[in-house]
Parts: sequence; C-alpha cells; structure tokens
Amino acid sequence: MKSYKELPDDAGSNIIGQVTAQANRLSQRLSTVKHTVAIMSGKGGVGKSAITANIATALSLMGCTVGIVDADINGPSIAKMMGVRNITLEYTKSGVLPAISHLGIKIISMDLILSEDDAPVMWNAQTQKDAFTWRSTMEVGALREFIGDTEWGDLDFLLLDLPPGSDRLPNVVELIPNLGGVVVVTIPSEISQLIVKKSITMARDILKVPIIGVVENMAFYMCKHCGEPEPLFSVQDTSDYKLNENTLGKIPFDPKLSLCNDSGTPYLSEYLNTPATEAITEIAHKIQNFFNS
Ligand SMILES: Nc1ncnc2c1ncn2[C@@H]1O[C@H](COP(=O)(O)OP(=O)(O)OP(=O)(O)O)[C@@H](O)[C@H]1O
Ligand SMILES: [Mg+2]
Repeated sequence: MKSYKELPDDAGSNIIGQVTAQANRLSQRLSTVKHTVAIMSGKGGVGKSAITANIATALSLMGCTVGIVDADINGPSIAKMMGVRNITLEYTKSGVLPAISHLGIKIISMDLILSEDDAPVMWNAQTQKDAFTWRSTMEVGALREFIGDTEWGDLDFLLLDLPPGSDRLPNVVELIPNLGGVVVVTIPSEISQLIVKKSITMARDILKVPIIGVVENMAFYMCKHCGEPEPLFSVQDTSDYKLNENTLGKIPFDPKLSLCNDSGTPYLSEYLNTPATEAITEIAHKIQNFFNS
C-alpha cells in the first residue's frame, strides 16, 4: 500500500496540502500549551483514566492550568470521572470550548458528543468491512479534531488519557511529534508487567518519546484492622518490569478513590491526608520537576 506522499496523482484532492494544513493547525493550537503528557499502559483497566483525572487535580491544586484530552474514543471515562458529563459543548468561530471541571480543568471527550449513555461510537463507511479497515485512521482523525479544534487557551499541562494497547502511542506521536513525555501505568501483577514492558519499548526505543516514569497503581491497601499496608497482588519484586525506568510512585487501592471517580468528585480535595492523596501529589510534583529540571 502506498502512502499519500507517494501518490503520483491525487485526483485534485491536494491531499499533501490538506495534511500539511491540518498539522499546522494542530501545532498552532498547541502553541499555548507548555507541556503535553500522555498517560499510557499496554494493559487495560490498570487505572490510566483514574490517574489522569487525579494527577490533573493535583497539578491544579499546585497552581497549574490543566487540560485533559480523553484519547479513549471508544471507551471514554474522563468526563464522568471529572463530573462534566452533563455539559453541552459550545462551538464558537474560533473553536470548541472545552467543558470546565472542578478547579477550572478543561476537558474534551467523545462522551461529551455522544447523545445517549449506551450509544457506542460508530464510524460511517459504505460497508462494515470498510469501517473496520479505516477505523484506526478515523480514530486518529477524531483525536486530531479533539486537539486541533479545541480552544485550550494557555495551559501548563495538557494530559492525554490513552486507551489500552502499546499501539496507541504512535497515533499520538503522529499528531504531537514533540510530545513532552509519557507516564506509564502498571499494577503489580506479572500479566501487567509483561504487557507494560511492550509499551515501554514502544515509547522509549521505537518512538524515542521521553518516559517521565512508571506509576504503580493498586500497589497495596491499608488494612482496616491493623492499619498497615498490605499487598493487593502477589508480585513484590518490581525491578524487572521497570526496565530501569524511574518509579514515580506507588498508589494504594482505596475504595473511596473509586467512589469519587464514579461520582465525578475530586478525591484529592475530599480526602486530604490519605496515602493515595500523598502518592498522587508526589507523582504530580515529579512530573512538574521533570519539565523544570
Ligand atoms: N488506586 C485505586 N483505588 C481504587 N480504585 C481505583 C484505583 N485506580 C483505579 N481505580 C478504579 O478502577 C477502575 C478502572 O480504572 P480506570 O478506568 O482508570 O482504568 P483504565 O486503565 O483507564 O481502564 P481502560 O483500559 O479501560 O481505559 C475504575 O473504576 C477506577 O475508579
Ligand atoms: Mg481508561
């Protein structure tokens, strides 16, 4: 299959011109954003979205201006976790105004566009086979519009909550070639380690994107009876899967964090001194220091 750059005749579509114009529009939009950070994991369900939402809150509480792109087009969860699902997006001449969450965090998500709770994302194509063939292209297109059509204004951080899979980061890097860095999320299970290794290789060795560090989520829980941290998973030696990457922090499993995510309330503002709040705040400081050092 030829790439669009190799087409001898573009049938008058000026495809190279269109792609260049889109890339320019995107970089123009991001010119007011200081740092772009992708939160990723090869593994699903390890807490990428929860960590994105809570790191955004922590950065805001530290005085930073923050936006979130919910890059999970098919399984968006950021709008719910940030309590903005009821907001209708406003379209202006200069772009879409993002939904504003607590502490002024700006959110854009497919969830703010879909009409019904149970409506899945469907791509229009002549046949379902065509839709399957073009799905990845259409997802990148949707993401390009999310980033490029949104009036972000001045931001210190734009966080991108990625869907699971090590193949998702290349799409983001295609759109944001100078992505500031990635935060890799894992849980202390061997299955997660195995898959997260692939994500790290993709980011570090293939795409050459700076890895800010690894977050170990659900690393332990605080025992109700003795008040001591207890492991939630069996794997204790995490030295192998870190692959020499910096560990940003270990976040405990806390049912209150899950409840806050479900109700769209900021856990960090509700629970000031818990081990999870302390871990998330420390991670946010390390992310900020990564860019300031
Ligand atoms: N440290 C934690 N303590 C308690 N609950 C958590 C914690 N981290 C995540 N959760 C909960 O676990 C569930 C899965 O988390 P989340 O949706 O963030 O995972 P994900 O990696 O984004 O999943 P997906 O791969 O589907 O995008 C959510 O209900 C979330 O609220
Ligand atoms: Mg998610």
